[in-house]
Amino acid sequence: MSTDLSVVVLAAGMGTRMKSALPKVMHKVAGKPMVNHVIDAAAKLDAVKTMVVVGPDMPKLIDAVAPHPTFEQTDRLGTAHAVLAAKDALTGLSGNVLVLYADSPLFTAETLKRLVAAREEGDHCVAVLGFRPEDPSGYGRLVTDDQTGMLSAIVEDKECDDAQRQITFCNSGVMCFRAEDMIATLDAIDNANAKGEYYLTDAVEVARKNGKTCVAVEVDEAETLGVNSRTQLAEAEAILQDRLRTNAMVEGATLIDPASVFLSADTKLGRDVIVEPNVVFGPGVTVGDNTVIKAFSHLESCVVGAGADIGPYARLRPGADIGAGAKVGNFVEIKKAVVEDGAKVNHLSYIGDARVGAKANIGAGTITCNYDGYRKQHTDIGAGAFIGSNSSLVAPVEIGDGAIVGAGSTVTGKVDQDALVLTRAARTEKPGWAAVFREKMRALTGKK
Ligand code: UD1
Ligand code: MG
Repeated sequence: MSTDLSVVVLAAGMGTRMKSALPKVMHKVAGKPMVNHVIDAAAKLDAVKTMVVVGPDMPKLIDAVAPHPTFEQTDRLGTAHAVLAAKDALTGLSGNVLVLYADSPLFTAETLKRLVAAREEGDHCVAVLGFRPEDPSGYGRLVTDDQTGMLSAIVEDKECDDAQRQITFCNSGVMCFRAEDMIATLDAIDNANAKGEYYLTDAVEVARKNGKTCVAVEVDEAETLGVNSRTQLAEAEAILQDRLRTNAMVEGATLIDPASVFLSADTKLGRDVIVEPNVVFGPGVTVGDNTVIKAFSHLESCVVGAGADIGPYARLRPGADIGAGAKVGNFVEIKKAVVEDGAKVNHLSYIGDARVGAKANIGAGTITCNYDGYRKQHTDIGAGAFIGSNSSLVAPVEIGDGAIVGAGSTVTGKVDQDALVLTRAARTEKPGWAAVFREKMRALTGKK
């Protein structure tokens, strides 16, 4: 970008149609609040400053957008009024100011770049992203000059005359301003209209009156979806999932049944990763090259090393760090634990607050007992150790390198390197007892 870019994100609406205690723009798509999708898209344009306009009493929203400064719009008097809540911070800026709605999470950085480039190209006062919806009702209409093709006005749906209402080119809401003109332009907007609101869209008419030019740039309707309800939230999710799946495949991952794989906006899949059907990637997952994530696995905030084999039915919770070539099999849950290279946890285990050393083998049903009701304690399993099936490792506990824990043991404390530890009850065997028992019982009850 040749000149500076600042961004104002409008996020003041509570979104009553969501019927939620949470501000609308905090609702997530692809594991990330809508407002952060908008901020992150703008960040790809190297914005020098991002300002967020919030409504009263939205502390969670202020936290979610930190460290970006927020400005409170106390009364909802329209989109121009909302932008002017950040007036002090907008004063003295140069270059471009992009205005984005926080409830429209699907605009791509490429599209925003196109808009900014068009604004700069003719040094226009305002550039607007327009689209052509099947049903234009409710949207502001973009009136363009027949001769020059330039944008001459935006007329809100409620203000349209019959001819204007026939216009199919509509305002998506995204606008880019020439920073130096912006405050004077917005200050000149009044609220003499059907809704009694200060319409940001009136900036175009003000600019034109002052002899300045404006331009419209067309964008595909799929990017413009604004979310007002839970059904539209699901529509946005579907569009974004589609994009993320396509992108994962373009980058070299195989999704056997893409429609059944759910990704997060920040999911990172390496090359030649194979993802089987019905896998969910929560936020914060990085998967190395050549791994297989088998069906019905659930991963969040974890790292999977190259060549690892995960699932089917594996659950990797936050802090799971799976080494190269390691195996995590069916019905295994791993939380805040490092499973080092080549280690195997193949069946029915819980490994939490632990280290599993390289090439260690964890038998079926092994549980790290990490919680005493008050504290979380650590389990350390050395390289090459062998933990027999159905063992309970009661943390804090340390199993030395190469040690063997006999199946069914309950282990506390420290086991030395290469030792065998067995904590089973001593075996008792009574020859013939079972047969005698059955005979007695048959005599007593008459049952065969
Ligand atoms: C707006 C545009 C319209 C466009 C449409 C696209 C104006 C006047 N109209 O209409 O041309 O076609 O979006 O969806 O801008 N907001 C505030 N404070 C306010 C008012 C609004 O923060 O005082 C925020 C809302 O939370 C929302 C955004 O600004 O995120 C747009 O407001 P909304 O009321 O939805 O505008 P529309 O009538 O849809
Ligand atoms: Mg709207």
